[in-house]
Amino acid sequence: MALPYSPRRRKQAIASAVLILGLFCLLGHYLLVQQTPLISAHGSLCVETLANLEQQAVSWPGIATHAGPIGSDVIDSVKLLDDFERCVLRNGNLKGQQINAIEAKLFPYLNLETLETNEKNFWPPRIRWNGDLLRGSVPRFASTGDYKYLGAAKSKYNKNLSFWGNWLDLLSKSSSKGIVISVGAGQISDATKLIKVLRYQMNALPIEIIHRGDLSEDQQQLLIQAARSAHSASYPAQELWFVNVSNVLNPRHAEQFATYSNKWLAIIFSSFESPILVDADTIPFISLEKYYDFQQYKEMGLLFFKDRAITSDLLNKEQLNTLKQIALSTIKLGSAAADLNNAIELGIKDNIAAETVMSMLVEGQKHHMESGLVLLDKSLHLVNLLTSVSLQFSSISSYFHGDKEWFWIAYLLRNRPFTFHPKQASNVGKLGRVQSEDGKEFYQICSVQVSHTELDGSLLWINGGLKTCKKNSWTSDYASNKRISSMFNNEEEVRNYYQSPVSLEGAIIPSVDKAPWIYTGECAMFSYCTLYKEGEYGELSKFSEPQREAYEEVVKIWNSDS
Ligand SMILES: *[C@@H]1O[C@H](CO)[C@@H](O)[C@H](O)[C@H]1NC(C)=O
Ligand SMILES: *[C@@H]1O[C@H](CO)[C@@H](O)[C@H](O)[C@H]1NC(C)=O
Repeated sequence: MALPYSPRRRKQAIASAVLILGLFCLLGHYLLVQQTPLISAHGSLCVETLANLEQQAVSWPGIATHAGPIGSDVIDSVKLLDDFERCVLRNGNLKGQQINAIEAKLFPYLNLETLETNEKNFWPPRIRWNGDLLRGSVPRFASTGDYKYLGAAKSKYNKNLSFWGNWLDLLSKSSSKGIVISVGAGQISDATKLIKVLRYQMNALPIEIIHRGDLSEDQQQLLIQAARSAHSASYPAQELWFVNVSNVLNPRHAEQFATYSNKWLAIIFSSFESPILVDADTIPFISLEKYYDFQQYKEMGLLFFKDRAITSDLLNKEQLNTLKQIALSTIKLGSAAADLNNAIELGIKDNIAAETVMSMLVEGQKHHMESGLVLLDKSLHLVNLLTSVSLQFSSISSYFHGDKEWFWIAYLLRNRPFTFHPKQASNVGKLGRVQSEDGKEFYQICSVQVSHTELDGSLLWINGGLKTCKKNSWTSDYASNKRISSMFNNEEEVRNYYQSPVSLEGAIIPSVDKAPWIYTGECAMFSYCTLYKEGEYGELSKFSEPQREAYEEVVKIWNSDS
């Protein structure tokens, strides 16, 4: 690459060279040692590289077992998963035994032993609200209109095909659209509220609740109650399913799939080919069905939203260097570029994607994607998701918060096109008027919720629930937070304030270079303030009276106890 000379770049170049040399050595080793290759070459090198995996120790999760420098496990697994997609995923010419050997190494977290010995036990039980049980098959729904349940779809497991190839086959026989929510015992209350909002919005899409066995019979009944009671034409009962995915995980690694990582299981093992994955504390303000009409989904088969562009929490120098090194060995950047910025611009076609990559690799920003609502077509993007999973469990897993960034970074490292909804994330809530001497409008919003708006400023969805503060942190906040102790006379007042419904008056997208997201530390750390000054900085969407009334209804339903 024609990047200008710098000692750091030289180091990177040397590291890349060492890596490539390493790969050649490995390959040489393979050719010498492997007398009877497990996978006979079909003239395709990538199958041979994958066969070579058999001799390697399982490096999962990468944090614990990978021997190389930080990040080299990422480069390896991105390449291996690419090879897997090209040569194995849908290749019907391999032997079952060969496929098993490859998949055991690439996806050690799967319970492939059970799949082999007791297929039926491997497949997650799918239980309908009325108790009907499917196992080894998936539910099928009408593809439009009322999305009526049509019965089970099944396909015989083809041992000549990879597990993921089989899963994609089965998905293609199921249904395209539906809502997926990952729910554990801690999310029952939020999930109940979300279901009520969906009913109010006349949702007709089927809903799958994915869990890991941590949802008791009683808790499931609560959700069924929320979804089915008091059915009427204007408050329709929901097509609710429960999916226990405990058995798809290798018992040796199951514990590593904690909290955030359950979302991967939810989106991957949902029976919908193009699921909308929502967090239990996400609240849509337009019908979820409408997200399938978004241009980004229609063009690329995915819909991602931006997160708060927080500039106060950055990658450190070492993390940034590691990421650059990974990027330089995996991303195809513009090779005639003058510098890294330029290389990204030339190499990545989509403007929003290029800006996002630049804010990460050049400015070191850590927060890019908000994964409280994600839409993705698995028939196109399954291996990207599998790459995200491997990133989540890699040596760089701690670089970002939870699951969210791994969704898009997988696309980036695999050189696959991706984009985001063009509107930046916003701060939503009560509009505080701050005095401005020059007579210009000057507003502040301080809030726990992050919101996502349409190009016209109307609300699409909010993450973080619709109470002022979802955490029970009034005691500690009153004791230690200056803003809170100056606003209230005692703990009890703070508690009432925290538990009160939000007031949705407007949304501010701050200009991060002039007046960034300001972290306030209240509500157990989730709260931010943002400023808008007309003509100077920020972007304000002041909701109209009809908008406020419509949003108010959703807030009321979400906060009601019944
Ligand atoms: C799997 O491969 C074997 C051997 O090539 C072949 O006989 C068999 O019919 C294949 N099975 C399926 C389901 O395609
Ligand atoms: C989920 O599946 C596991 C494994 O089969 C089982 O032990 C557990 O009881 C199940 N939990 C629920 C709530 O269905």
